[in-house]
Amino acid sequence: MALERRKANTIPLSWSPEDERLLLKYLKKESFDAQFLMELFPGRTLPGIRSKVRKLRIKHDLFGESYRDQKEDFTTQIARKVKPKHVFDAYAGAGHQTFKWTTVADVVYASDIMKSKLKQFEKTARENKFEKVNTGDCLWKLFTNGDKKVFFFMGDALDAAADLKVNKLRIDLVDLDTCGSTLPILPTLLVLLKPRHIVITHGEFHSMRFKREDVLRRLFLHRDISKNPFPMDVETMSNELDKAVKIAGLRAHNETTDSFWLDLKEEKWLGGKFHGMLRRYYKVSKPSATADCINELSKI
Ligand SMILES: C[S@@+](CC[C@H](N)C(=O)[O-])C[C@H]1O[C@@H](n2cnc3c(N)ncnc32)[C@H](O)[C@@H]1O
Repeated sequence: MALERRKANTIPLSWSPEDERLLLKYLKKESFDAQFLMELFPGRTLPGIRSKVRKLRIKHDLFGESYRDQKEDFTTQIARKVKPKHVFDAYAGAGHQTFKWTTVADVVYASDIMKSKLKQFEKTARENKFEKVNTGDCLWKLFTNGDKKVFFFMGDALDAAADLKVNKLRIDLVDLDTCGSTLPILPTLLVLLKPRHIVITHGEFHSMRFKREDVLRRLFLHRDISKNPFPMDVETMSNELDKAVKIAGLRAHNETTDSFWLDLKEEKWLGGKFHGMLRRYYKVSKPSATADCINELSKI
């Protein structure tokens, strides 16, 4: 069935600084309660409140706060197992994963598109005993602790990756911790950086829960865009994402031999199957024969 354009059914109400402050104060103490928030902000729609909550959580580093420890534990577990020396943390935010990677890595390159993240990142750096080094107007801000180095790029992850590529910097592991999806740029990141390991967080589960057929049809590059992926339960979605990631690897380059084979090694639910997100670790290698890869992927 053809999709309808999404449009607001009500006239959008702008958020006054006072309302924004009130909502932020609530979010710092409480978890999301739709009923309560509808009463706190009468006249606003639930999608409008949800959208504002998401923006404030990202901006003020509250996104995924309830499962931050679980995420950091998983990062540390993979860091110890894989022992990467050079890491690219593409969606670094305030840097909570970045400094977990530094427990093992010598150099971590981090990027984030939101301007306000630099201040939060600097704070996390200080908490981890990293000092900022004056690098003038260099694109990458530098933080050091003994021999360990962390570089921060304020901008798009793809621009940061392209810069790492042209400077011929070696990357062992790429961390893709988006709040949404990184599927559309996964092949490009693989081709640019050729990492041996990928850690990826799947925020696509939120789109599944909110029945965002339009979002999933756009993101699922491995499926026919004209087909509705629903109905779908958590298990099917998990398999679908595994397939999407593996196919992105196999189709990353025009030659199979220059493409990638991603092997799912570990995974962890952050915040539980019914509300949270899935974080996965893939080992990246060269694909075997095209036919073998296709046969393997056809079983998922
Ligand atoms: C889930 S948060 C990251 C949390 C972070 N890894 C941590 O544990 O502290 C996702 C981040 O991705 C950033 N982001 C979104 N799109 C981006 C892009 N195209 N390039 C770089 N950063 C982006 C957002 O600003 C947000 O800070």
